[in-house]
Amino acid sequence: MAPTQEVRFDSSQVTVIFVLGGPGAGKGTQCENLVKDYDFVHLSAGDLLRAEQAREGSEYGQLIADYIKEGKIVPQEVTIALLRNAMKAALASPPSNTPSAASKWSDGRGRFLIDGFPRKMDQALEFDSKVCESRFVLFLRCTEEVMLERLLERGKTSGRTDDNAESIKKRFRTFEETSMPVVEYYGKEGKVVEVDSVESKEAVYRQIKEAMDGTFKKLGQEP
Ligand code: C5P
Ligand code: MG
Repeated sequence: MAPTQEVRFDSSQVTVIFVLGGPGAGKGTQCENLVKDYDFVHLSAGDLLRAEQAREGSEYGQLIADYIKEGKIVPQEVTIALLRNAMKAALASPPSNTPSAASKWSDGRGRFLIDGFPRKMDQALEFDSKVCESRFVLFLRCTEEVMLERLLERGKTSGRTDDNAESIKKRFRTFEETSMPVVEYYGKEGKVVEVDSVESKEAVYRQIKEAMDGTFKKLGQEP
């Protein structure tokens, strides 16, 4: 991981939306949909950590591997540095897949969906104060029963070290004990937009779109 300059992004220029939910709630799947419709760049904290873990010569490789297998939250410095680097890179070479993407990403502006982050209060406080204040939080609420089923199904092909019954149990515990307090914290700030994500991908996405459009409207912004 390259050393980072401690850059802070201007939240009037850079829109950050956190996407939270338990493991298997559908964060990644739904972010893929949102990217197409709203010209976001999608950054998955878990994907960034897995890429860093696999990167040859990473000083954090073993640490990340151990935390992921145990379903524990990697120390915030590591994850925040990865996110900051990825944001800088996207702002330096903005996407231009649609005409609106080009305009939404011009003159230093940018739009990020950050999925699976913050998962712990220290990450939330550090990111909002030192990296970029988030606009709102999309929270996908799901039952453990449905999430377990999805993760075991994904585990058949994902190759992930944590998509097995034992790690999943630990991830559920971490979510309840460590990550739900983050959702509650943002809830008290009036920043949480909640969508039930038990149904099919398509049905959930319809609700997400409605919720996103409504929220942008409330904020007086273009979706
Ligand atoms: O979001 P995802 O399921 O891909 O995350 C996989 C694992 O990566 C988590 O269980 C956790 O060990 C680690 N992680 C983390 N901090 C985050 C996001 C993910 O430590 N903000
Ligand atoms: Mg994911």
